[in-house]
Amino acid sequence: MTPTLPDHIAIIMDGNGRWASDRGLPKVHGHRAGARSLRRIIEECDRLDVSYLTVFAFSTENWSRPPDEVDALMALMAEFSRSEADDLRNQGVRVIPMGSIDELPAMARMGLRSLAELTASGEGLTLLLAVNYGGRSDLARAARRLAEECLKGHVRPEEIDGRVLGEYLLSYPHPDPDLIIRTGGEWRLSNFYLFQAAYAEFFSSPVYWPDFGPEHLAAALQAYAGRQRRFGGRPTDDSEGG
Ligand code: IPE
Ligand code: IPE
Ligand code: MG
Repeated sequence: MTPTLPDHIAIIMDGNGRWASDRGLPKVHGHRAGARSLRRIIEECDRLDVSYLTVFAFSTENWSRPPDEVDALMALMAEFSRSEADDLRNQGVRVIPMGSIDELPAMARMGLRSLAELTASGEGLTLLLAVNYGGRSDLARAARRLAEECLKGHVRPEEIDGRVLGEYLLSYPHPDPDLIIRTGGEWRLSNFYLFQAAYAEFFSSPVYWPDFGPEHLAAALQAYAGRQRRFGGRPTDDSEGG
């Protein structure tokens, strides 16, 4: 049986640009509205008692966007980290930045680091903020670290299986996502959680991220509750037998 509520929801927050274009506004307005939407969805996941929420905020490929858009996104991240810190801490949300944070401009890097420190003892929702994250670089980094461990004689190559590899990924020790929601209507992972998505249920919502509210999350959760997760096996209530 699939538990009604996913323990870990991951969201590919897409559609900010189109939301802004529809209104004749510069893209940065879409990203700003997206940050407000993120705040609402964090609140809702916390209220629903979801344990983990990962949000894909900036991919390793998003650096290829126009420099002013990248700058605006980085500034927004710094601003979000500062303005939401107290509320998130009071709410018991634990924020964990996930990705190559070292490569971010100082303001965003320091903002995210201090947000993580300030909320480290939170015992409610764990929020994994995927920033400068890419599934391929996550796997490449894990492979590199495992190769180093092998060279040092700490790990034997024949010991490496899916479980061991998973322990070297940035998401470790947090569980794999149960449900991946992509807003903005596309049906692709765009280099998000390639390994971790193995058995996640996928839900694509046509709604642009800035408009994605609790009612749209509820629709995704309802779809999830109706899914039968088999993990390659036979469903436990398989009445057809043999
Ligand atoms: C998602 O919105 C936010 C980031 C990728 C940072 P987009 O900016 O990709 O929105 P669209 O896809 O152009 O509408
Ligand atoms: C995925 O959206 C990345 C984030 C939401 C952060 P993109 O807009 O970058 O993905 P593509 O380019 O449409 O695949
Ligand atoms: Mg997009």
